[in-house]
Amino acid sequence: MSIALIAIDGPTASGKGTVAQRVAQALGWAYLDSGALYRLCALAALREGVDLEDEGAMARIAAALPVRFEAQRIELAGQDVTEAIRDEAVGNAASRIAALPAVRAALLGLQRAFRRPPGLVADGRDMGTVVFPDATLKVFLTASAESRAERRHKQLIEKGFSASIADLLRDLRQRDERDANRAIAPLRPAQDAVVIDSTHLDIDQTVRQVLKAYHDCFRL
Ligand code: DC
Repeated sequence: MSIALIAIDGPTASGKGTVAQRVAQALGWAYLDSGALYRLCALAALREGVDLEDEGAMARIAAALPVRFEAQRIELAGQDVTEAIRDEAVGNAASRIAALPAVRAALLGLQRAFRRPPGLVADGRDMGTVVFPDATLKVFLTASAESRAERRHKQLIEKGFSASIADLLRDLRQRDERDANRAIAPLRPAQDAVVIDSTHLDIDQTVRQVLKAYHDCFRL
Protein backbone atom coordinates (compact mmCIF):
# COMPACT_ATOMS: atom_id res chain seq x y z
CA MET A 1 0.00 0.00 0.00
CA SER A 2 1.38 3.43 -0.82
CA ILE A 3 2.25 5.87 1.98
CA ALA A 4 -0.45 8.48 2.70
CA LEU A 5 0.26 11.88 1.20
CA ILE A 6 -1.47 15.24 1.15
CA ALA A 7 -0.29 17.57 -1.64
CA ILE A 8 -0.95 21.27 -1.08
CA ASP A 9 -0.21 23.43 -4.11
CA GLY A 10 -0.93 27.07 -4.72
CA PRO A 11 0.44 30.49 -5.59
CA THR A 12 2.95 32.45 -3.55
CA ALA A 13 1.75 33.81 -0.17
CA SER A 14 -1.41 31.71 -0.24
CA GLY A 15 -0.58 30.50 3.27
CA LYS A 16 0.11 26.95 2.07
CA GLY A 17 3.35 26.63 4.07
CA THR A 18 1.69 27.43 7.39
CA VAL A 19 -1.38 25.37 6.56
CA ALA A 20 0.71 22.38 5.41
CA GLN A 21 2.83 22.45 8.58
CA ARG A 22 -0.26 22.63 10.77
CA VAL A 23 -1.92 19.76 8.92
CA ALA A 24 1.27 17.67 9.26
CA GLN A 25 1.36 18.43 12.99
CA ALA A 26 -2.29 17.49 13.46
CA LEU A 27 -1.76 14.13 11.72
CA GLY A 28 1.72 13.45 13.17
CA TRP A 29 3.20 13.31 9.65
CA ALA A 30 6.39 14.65 8.06
CA TYR A 31 6.36 17.90 6.12
CA LEU A 32 8.09 18.88 2.87
CA ASP A 33 8.50 22.53 1.87
CA SER A 34 9.45 21.94 -1.77
CA GLY A 35 9.81 25.67 -2.44
CA ALA A 36 12.71 25.69 0.04
CA LEU A 37 14.63 23.37 -2.31
CA TYR A 38 14.26 25.82 -5.23
CA ARG A 39 15.20 28.66 -2.89
CA LEU A 40 18.29 26.74 -1.70
CA CYS A 41 19.44 26.20 -5.30
CA ALA A 42 18.91 29.89 -6.02
CA LEU A 43 20.82 30.96 -2.92
CA ALA A 44 23.70 28.59 -3.70
CA ALA A 45 23.89 29.98 -7.26
CA LEU A 46 23.77 33.60 -6.09
CA ARG A 47 26.53 32.94 -3.56
CA GLU A 48 28.73 31.09 -6.07
CA GLY A 49 28.12 33.69 -8.77
CA VAL A 50 26.56 31.11 -11.11
CA ASP A 51 24.48 32.48 -13.99
CA LEU A 52 20.82 31.63 -13.22
CA GLU A 53 20.17 31.03 -16.93
CA ASP A 54 22.94 28.41 -17.17
CA GLU A 55 20.74 25.30 -17.06
CA GLY A 56 23.61 22.78 -16.89
CA ALA A 57 25.34 24.56 -14.02
CA MET A 58 22.04 25.04 -12.18
CA ALA A 59 21.14 21.35 -12.58
CA ARG A 60 24.56 20.38 -11.16
CA ILE A 61 23.86 22.57 -8.10
CA ALA A 62 20.40 20.99 -7.68
CA ALA A 63 21.72 17.43 -8.02
CA ALA A 64 24.36 17.89 -5.32
CA LEU A 65 22.58 20.26 -2.97
CA PRO A 66 24.43 20.04 0.39
CA VAL A 67 21.22 20.52 2.39
CA ARG A 68 20.21 19.40 5.87
CA PHE A 69 16.80 19.85 7.43
CA GLU A 70 17.21 20.12 11.22
CA ALA A 71 13.85 20.42 13.04
CA GLN A 72 12.81 23.98 12.05
CA ARG A 73 16.25 24.97 10.66
CA ILE A 74 17.67 24.54 7.15
CA GLU A 75 21.41 24.26 6.54
CA LEU A 76 23.26 24.72 3.26
CA ALA A 77 26.84 23.39 3.31
CA GLY A 78 26.76 23.45 7.12
CA GLN A 79 25.56 27.07 7.32
CA ASP A 80 22.16 28.04 8.76
CA VAL A 81 20.21 29.65 5.88
CA THR A 82 16.70 29.44 7.38
CA GLU A 83 16.23 33.23 7.17
CA ALA A 84 18.43 33.88 4.12
CA ILE A 85 16.29 31.73 1.78
CA ARG A 86 13.16 33.76 2.69
CA ASP A 87 14.59 36.92 1.16
CA GLU A 88 12.40 38.30 -1.70
CA ALA A 89 15.41 38.37 -4.06
CA VAL A 90 16.05 34.68 -3.39
CA GLY A 91 12.34 33.91 -3.96
CA ASN A 92 12.40 35.71 -7.31
CA ALA A 93 15.60 33.90 -8.35
CA ALA A 94 13.98 30.60 -7.25
CA SER A 95 11.00 31.31 -9.50
CA ARG A 96 13.38 31.87 -12.45
CA ILE A 97 15.42 28.69 -12.00
CA ALA A 98 12.24 26.69 -11.32
CA ALA A 99 11.42 27.15 -15.03
CA LEU A 100 14.49 25.07 -16.02
CA PRO A 101 13.52 21.42 -16.79
CA ALA A 102 16.93 20.02 -15.78
CA VAL A 103 16.66 21.67 -12.35
CA ARG A 104 13.18 20.24 -11.80
CA ALA A 105 14.34 16.78 -12.88
CA ALA A 106 17.36 16.95 -10.55
CA LEU A 107 15.11 17.75 -7.55
CA LEU A 108 12.55 15.03 -8.20
CA GLY A 109 14.26 12.17 -6.32
CA LEU A 110 15.14 14.38 -3.37
CA GLN A 111 11.49 15.42 -2.99
CA ARG A 112 10.15 11.86 -3.27
CA ALA A 113 12.61 10.68 -0.61
CA PHE A 114 10.67 12.70 1.98
CA ARG A 115 7.72 10.30 1.69
CA ARG A 116 7.80 7.98 4.68
CA PRO A 117 5.26 6.40 7.04
CA PRO A 118 2.87 7.29 8.48
CA GLY A 119 2.47 10.09 5.92
CA LEU A 120 3.76 13.26 4.28
CA VAL A 121 2.24 16.69 3.72
CA ALA A 122 4.06 18.32 0.80
CA ASP A 123 3.57 21.92 -0.31
CA GLY A 124 4.61 23.57 -3.55
CA ARG A 125 3.37 24.18 -7.09
CA ASP A 126 3.46 20.72 -8.67
CA MET A 127 3.12 18.31 -5.75
CA GLY A 128 -0.22 16.93 -6.97
CA THR A 129 0.45 17.25 -10.70
CA VAL A 130 4.04 15.96 -11.11
CA VAL A 131 5.93 14.93 -7.98
CA PHE A 132 3.22 12.91 -6.18
CA PRO A 133 0.49 12.24 -8.78
CA ASP A 134 -0.80 9.36 -6.61
CA ALA A 135 -1.35 11.61 -3.56
CA THR A 136 -4.19 10.55 -1.25
CA LEU A 137 -5.53 14.11 -1.29
CA LYS A 138 -4.63 17.04 -3.56
CA VAL A 139 -5.46 20.53 -2.38
CA PHE A 140 -5.08 23.70 -4.44
CA LEU A 141 -4.96 26.58 -1.99
CA THR A 142 -5.51 30.01 -3.39
CA ALA A 143 -6.54 33.53 -2.32
CA SER A 144 -6.95 36.86 -4.12
CA ALA A 145 -3.69 38.61 -5.09
CA GLU A 146 -4.65 41.59 -2.90
CA SER A 147 -5.16 39.51 0.22
CA ARG A 148 -1.92 37.61 -0.42
CA ALA A 149 0.00 40.89 -0.79
CA GLU A 150 -1.55 42.13 2.47
CA ARG A 151 -0.56 38.93 4.30
CA ARG A 152 3.00 39.10 2.99
CA HIS A 153 3.15 42.80 4.00
CA LYS A 154 2.02 41.97 7.54
CA GLN A 155 4.62 39.18 7.83
CA LEU A 156 7.44 41.48 6.68
CA ILE A 157 6.41 44.32 8.99
CA GLU A 158 6.25 41.89 11.92
CA LYS A 159 9.80 40.81 11.11
CA GLY A 160 10.90 44.47 11.16
CA PHE A 161 11.31 44.88 7.36
CA SER A 162 9.81 47.82 5.51
CA ALA A 163 7.74 47.04 2.42
CA SER A 164 5.09 48.64 0.23
CA ILE A 165 1.88 46.74 -0.54
CA ALA A 166 1.93 48.09 -4.10
CA ASP A 167 5.46 46.72 -4.72
CA LEU A 168 4.58 43.39 -3.12
CA LEU A 169 1.41 43.11 -5.23
CA ARG A 170 3.40 43.80 -8.42
CA ASP A 171 6.11 41.22 -7.55
CA LEU A 172 3.53 38.65 -6.55
CA ARG A 173 1.62 39.06 -9.83
CA GLN A 174 4.86 38.74 -11.79
CA ARG A 175 5.77 35.57 -9.88
CA ASP A 176 2.26 34.08 -10.40
CA GLU A 177 2.50 34.86 -14.11
CA ARG A 178 5.92 33.16 -14.42
CA ASP A 179 4.96 30.13 -12.28
CA ALA A 180 1.65 29.62 -14.12
CA ASN A 181 2.92 30.11 -17.67
CA ARG A 182 6.17 28.17 -17.72
CA ALA A 183 6.29 25.25 -20.13
CA ILE A 184 7.19 22.66 -17.49
CA ALA A 185 5.14 21.78 -14.38
CA PRO A 186 3.19 25.05 -14.41
CA LEU A 187 1.24 26.18 -11.37
CA ARG A 188 -2.29 24.86 -11.88
CA PRO A 189 -4.70 22.69 -9.92
CA ALA A 190 -4.52 18.95 -10.59
CA GLN A 191 -7.72 17.71 -12.26
CA ASP A 192 -8.66 15.84 -9.09
CA ALA A 193 -7.66 18.64 -6.65
CA VAL A 194 -9.97 20.14 -4.04
CA VAL A 195 -9.74 23.93 -4.54
CA ILE A 196 -9.83 25.99 -1.34
CA ASP A 197 -10.04 29.78 -1.60
CA SER A 198 -8.73 31.21 1.67
CA THR A 199 -9.37 34.90 0.88
CA HIS A 200 -11.98 35.04 3.63
CA LEU A 201 -10.65 32.21 5.84
CA ASP A 202 -8.12 32.36 8.65
CA ILE A 203 -5.44 29.72 9.17
CA ASP A 204 -7.51 27.61 11.61
CA GLN A 205 -10.49 27.53 9.26
CA THR A 206 -8.27 26.59 6.32
CA VAL A 207 -6.54 23.78 8.28
CA ARG A 208 -9.96 22.44 9.29
CA GLN A 209 -11.11 22.41 5.64
CA VAL A 210 -8.01 20.45 4.57
CA LEU A 211 -8.42 17.91 7.38
CA LYS A 212 -12.11 17.53 6.53
CA ALA A 213 -11.24 16.96 2.85
CA TYR A 214 -8.70 14.31 3.93
CA HIS A 215 -11.23 12.48 6.13
CA ASP A 216 -13.79 12.74 3.29
CA CYS A 217 -11.38 10.68 1.11
CA PHE A 218 -12.30 7.63 3.21
CA ARG A 219 -16.08 8.11 3.18
CA LEU A 220 -18.05 5.78 0.99
O1 DC B 1 6.74 28.39 -2.32
P1 DC B 1 7.93 29.32 -2.47
O2 DC B 1 7.53 30.76 -2.65
O3 DC B 1 8.92 29.13 -1.37
O4 DC B 1 8.68 28.86 -3.83
C1 DC B 1 9.73 29.61 -4.40
C2 DC B 1 9.71 29.42 -5.92
O5 DC B 1 10.04 28.07 -6.24
C3 DC B 1 8.36 29.70 -6.57
O6 DC B 1 8.28 30.99 -7.13
C4 DC B 1 8.25 28.67 -7.66
C5 DC B 1 9.22 27.60 -7.31
N1 DC B 1 8.60 26.34 -6.92
C6 DC B 1 8.26 25.47 -7.94
O7 DC B 1 8.42 25.80 -9.11
N2 DC B 1 7.77 24.24 -7.64
C7 DC B 1 7.56 23.87 -6.36
N3 DC B 1 7.07 22.67 -6.10
C8 DC B 1 7.85 24.77 -5.31
C9 DC B 1 8.36 26.01 -5.63
